[in-house]
Amino acid sequence: MNKKLWGGRFTKTAEEWVDEFGASISFDQELVLEDIEGSLAHVSMLSQCGIITALEGEKIKSGLLQLKEKALNDEIDYSVELEDIHLNLESQLTDMIGPVGGKLHTARSRNDQVATDMHLYLRNKTEETVSLVNDMQLALLEQAEKNVETVMPGYTHLQRAQPISFAHHLMAYFWMLQRDKERYVESLKRINISPLGAGALAGTTFPINRELTSELLGFEGIYENSLDAVSDRDFILEFMSASSILMMHLSRLSEEFILWSSQEFNFIELDDSYTTGSSIMPQKKNPDMAELIRGKTGRVYGNLIGLLTVLKGLPLAYNKDMQEDKEGMFDTVKTITGSLKIFTGMIKTIKVNKTKMEQSTMQDFSNATELADYLSAKGVPFREAHEIVGQLVLTCVNKGCYLADLPLGHYQNINPLFEEDIYEVLNPVTAVARRNSAGGTGFDQVRSAISKAKKLVEHE
Ligand code: ARG
Repeated sequence: MNKKLWGGRFTKTAEEWVDEFGASISFDQELVLEDIEGSLAHVSMLSQCGIITALEGEKIKSGLLQLKEKALNDEIDYSVELEDIHLNLESQLTDMIGPVGGKLHTARSRNDQVATDMHLYLRNKTEETVSLVNDMQLALLEQAEKNVETVMPGYTHLQRAQPISFAHHLMAYFWMLQRDKERYVESLKRINISPLGAGALAGTTFPINRELTSELLGFEGIYENSLDAVSDRDFILEFMSASSILMMHLSRLSEEFILWSSQEFNFIELDDSYTTGSSIMPQKKNPDMAELIRGKTGRVYGNLIGLLTVLKGLPLAYNKDMQEDKEGMFDTVKTITGSLKIFTGMIKTIKVNKTKMEQSTMQDFSNATELADYLSAKGVPFREAHEIVGQLVLTCVNKGCYLADLPLGHYQNINPLFEEDIYEVLNPVTAVARRNSAGGTGFDQVRSAISKAKKLVEHE
């Protein structure tokens, strides 16, 4: 027998594997609670508008609530033949409460129904993501506070550039995450609008009240255009782009954690709980979680490009291609959720090798700018000062020593403006402390950045 709810005009059934190819139930069952929530609002509206009787409305509602109970207990059996979550639930409802269940779909199409489900789903997930990003920011703040005066080499081109505060480096990620968080929060106003009542594409002949369902579902307004309401997936794209940027940030920090925990750097040690051993090399402690987050960035980008590509050639309004919007969205949610949780734990538990970081700043030329600034503060044009210090560096390279090892006499032969205080200026800690321009790495700047940052994160 043909079980299909739309089976009326069909004389033949599809082969099982064709049904399976077309079905979305294996993944859209994730939307079960949102689908029921949407239906509850829809049925309330139908009865308030007199489209169904109050009694019919009550029967349908109680059936939906029973279904919700079953869903929460994981007791619903889904059938591939019934294609998707919407038809599965409607069929179960009718099995439970009889033909009156068939009235639920009055003045509604699966097209506005599925769009509603996804708006509800993504609103929850966006709010959850904001709170997870916030947690990671708190972890960064916590480590930053402990490391304001931890001096490390700062890099450009992965070459030692100028010494910086480790807290300043960590706080750079805090501010990136702050913008990520803002992107999610801002996108909420576009996610939080109701497509319900758009029907299949053109609206409906029934006297529905779209504002009412919108209000019942906590939306801030309704889509103005019914075609737009059922065809638009840009709210998902926006979530996926914000997530791609977030993952890019996480991936860069992963890369740094991986480098820093290598024996070559040895700046940090990752906690055992975020690393794994090797099946052959007993000494290994591999930064697997950081590597995986870096790796999973690829799938989040892929999901974004995938959906952009699905949508680019679609004529209005709904096309079945759009069913392809879901798996990537679920996967992105799962990936960013896991990555943020893991990163928060990883940051909280790193061991910072302050001595190694500080020692490194003594064994390089990252204090060369200090010397050029020193001369230029005494009136030598910066370009000239740069040239003089460049030659001093070359002398050191040839002699196999660092700038602080050259005797004062050597400096004074080159330029009499050099005085005894150059050795203090060359000290990396002094170099960091003195960079007190706004947003710089000077300790006082870092402290004030931390207190500003604290006001932006809510403590749970
Ligand atoms: N499973 C479908 C999807 O996810 C629901 C909408 C189906 N609409 C239709 N007209 N076939 O896109």
